[in-house]
Amino acid sequence: MTTPALVPGLAGIPAAESAISYIDGKKGLLSYRGFPIELLAEQSSFEEVAWLLLYGELPTRDELESFQNALVEARTLSARMLDVLRSLPGKGHPMNALQASMAALGMFSRSREYRDPKQQDEAIVRILGATPVLIAAFERFRSGEDLCEPKPELSTAANFLWMLTGSEPDALSARVLDAALILHADHTMNASTFTARVVGSTEADPFTVTASAIGSLTGPLHGGANERVLTMLEEIQGDEDVGEWIEARLAAKRKIMGFGHRVYSVKDPRAVILQGLCAQLFEEQGRTPLYDLAVQLEEVMVKRLGDKGIYPNVDFYSGIVYSKLGIPTDTFTPIFAIARVAGWLAHWREQMADNKIFRPTQIYVGKHDQSYVPIAKR
Ligand code: ACO
Repeated sequence: MTTPALVPGLAGIPAAESAISYIDGKKGLLSYRGFPIELLAEQSSFEEVAWLLLYGELPTRDELESFQNALVEARTLSARMLDVLRSLPGKGHPMNALQASMAALGMFSRSREYRDPKQQDEAIVRILGATPVLIAAFERFRSGEDLCEPKPELSTAANFLWMLTGSEPDALSARVLDAALILHADHTMNASTFTARVVGSTEADPFTVTASAIGSLTGPLHGGANERVLTMLEEIQGDEDVGEWIEARLAAKRKIMGFGHRVYSVKDPRAVILQGLCAQLFEEQGRTPLYDLAVQLEEVMVKRLGDKGIYPNVDFYSGIVYSKLGIPTDTFTPIFAIARVAGWLAHWREQMADNKIFRPTQIYVGKHDQSYVPIAKR
């Protein structure tokens, strides 16, 4: 059998059959289990969407209620788990804190047989419920503050904002974050989801699967871009000419963060919805000057690189939304993780239902038949 040619980055190579989400990159369409993302962002809640991704159908009222109750219970962390978070270096990045604490959370889990659907479901609820709490607790501790105890009456989004900032969010802020979580919950075979499926295929436990996917999400080419978009906009602010700034950056062979996508050759539909969320927030809470700069940057970029299919991706406007909600810049990517945990675990379930360990091949380009020279003679 001849070895197929190498496809860098596995671009266009299917890695699994999946019924979870669907993208049409030319038309700018994204759907979860057949429901357009626009409809879900407007009418659904993050908890409902997480169930939809995980179990394939919209939940009944009873199913949603018991799922929400289980997620609320899963928000409680033991004193020892809180000690783990307290002991992490406060100057470290929150994504590394999340990855380390997710792995630690797994060490406290009693489940071991993850082929059992009941134990799968318990782990899913634990991970989904605890993720925002791990992030908020780390933020509180590194700022020298006490933990804000979770409030059972609040949604995942509202409770996260409460635990992070120490004040209960207004209805609009909670709704906007809820919609942002929906938008980030799944996105077919991206790098972190592929990571989750590869690690899951070894039958590693779901905490390890999630911790590995968190690691993959940290990179600036993936989830780490949202944080860098804000830093980039702050860097441009005060510069006279956005066009010149872009040219200088492209000449230095540096990417413009928040632009480009392996699958979309038009504007990412999630970026369109996030812009609408910005508008809602601005109407009630005042405009952010960085937003106008972002719109200007987009106009120049579309003229400059639009014909190459390079348009804003989800990360371009999300940072502006999060900073308006009072979230520290280095906590933007962890928010992405709160949402994407739903997708990673849905893919883990799907992988487990029909598993084959990932073991691709390679094209060897190294040497053969070398003669060994003893160290004394080298
Ligand atoms: N700025 C400038 N040029 C770009 C950009 C960009 N943001 N994105 C792609 N290009 C150019 C490349 O320089 C390359 O040009 P060339 O053909 O002349 O060499 C061409 O477009 C193809 O780019 P690749 O990086 O090869 O495309 P790939 O599909 O491998 O990468 C990626 C996609 C990683 C998202 C890329 O567009 C990028 O690095 N963007 C910036 C980082 C970013 O915003 N990441 C978030 C992605 S969304 C997410 O993960 C949630």
